[in-house]
Amino acid sequence: MLIKEIYNLSIKMGIEADFRGKEGIKKFLERKKEKYEKLSEKEKEEFDKDALENPYLDSRIYHIAQDKEVKKVLTGIDIEPAEILIAKEIGGIDLVIAHHPIGKGLAHLADVMDLQCDVLSFYGVPINIAEGLMNERIEEVARGVNKLNHQRTVDAAKLLKVNLMNVHTPCDNLAAKFLKDLIEKKKPERIGDLINLLKEIPEYKEAMKIGAGPKIFVGAPENRCGRITLTEITGGTEGSPKLYEKMANAGIGTVVAMHQSEEHRKEAQTANVNVVIAGHMSSDSLGVNLFLDELEKKGIEIIPCSGLIRISRIEK
Ligand SMILES: [Fe+2]
Repeated sequence: MLIKEIYNLSIKMGIEADFRGKEGIKKFLERKKEKYEKLSEKEKEEFDKDALENPYLDSRIYHIAQDKEVKKVLTGIDIEPAEILIAKEIGGIDLVIAHHPIGKGLAHLADVMDLQCDVLSFYGVPINIAEGLMNERIEEVARGVNKLNHQRTVDAAKLLKVNLMNVHTPCDNLAAKFLKDLIEKKKPERIGDLINLLKEIPEYKEAMKIGAGPKIFVGAPENRCGRITLTEITGGTEGSPKLYEKMANAGIGTVVAMHQSEEHRKEAQTANVNVVIAGHMSSDSLGVNLFLDELEKKGIEIIPCSGLIRISRIEK
């Protein structure tokens, strides 16, 4: 596979697993096109044209040093200059794939957060409330990533002539869909049952060995789960802390999240919404693995690094 083919596959898989469905994504892109058409010539020049075709602006190709058949990839959750050096040191790496956004993808992280409004609405939070609270938070995240050194890793890749891309929200969508399907199938009744269900997933089993397994942040093992939602697995980064009260009003009993800040945890507690933290690197690994399996099927060798717990689900 060529780099662009690998990238296109990731976007396609992300769309297939997306809470919004193919129709929802189509509408999302159409709205961007309408906005673009209304811009002045000068504004059109400044506009990021990728936005017209790619619903996941936090996932990009950053550098193609040599566009050749990819046979071996180095892939990890966070790719920094150290990992680019590791790729060089190992040798024979055709492409480095990061999970978390870097470069332009990091600068556009807030763009994918609109997805959370649709996820919340899917679970019964009125869309006007989800949008109102999320819009505030999206602006906050956009300002937050503004100050970062976006190009650091990209510059290292350019200097060392390493091919570099990242896949963020498409993989998080895969993790969210995997967990949603499993939870809906097994229907855990109590929080303890939910934790035990998660602990059967190999990525979480591995994370437990280093003390990073699934944990209860709000609630107790004997609490009933009520309606379990996957509102905090995909959609960029944490949503608004003000959402928990609205979620409780919408009939949500338990949230399964990748990670949670203390401010969010306190708000969830006040709203009596149980919170189960599946784990950050492990949940990211789950989504990335589901994508990497497709590359492995095509004969690409995968070398995991930087916190990626590589589990292959391919029957051999
Ligand atoms: Fe993450």
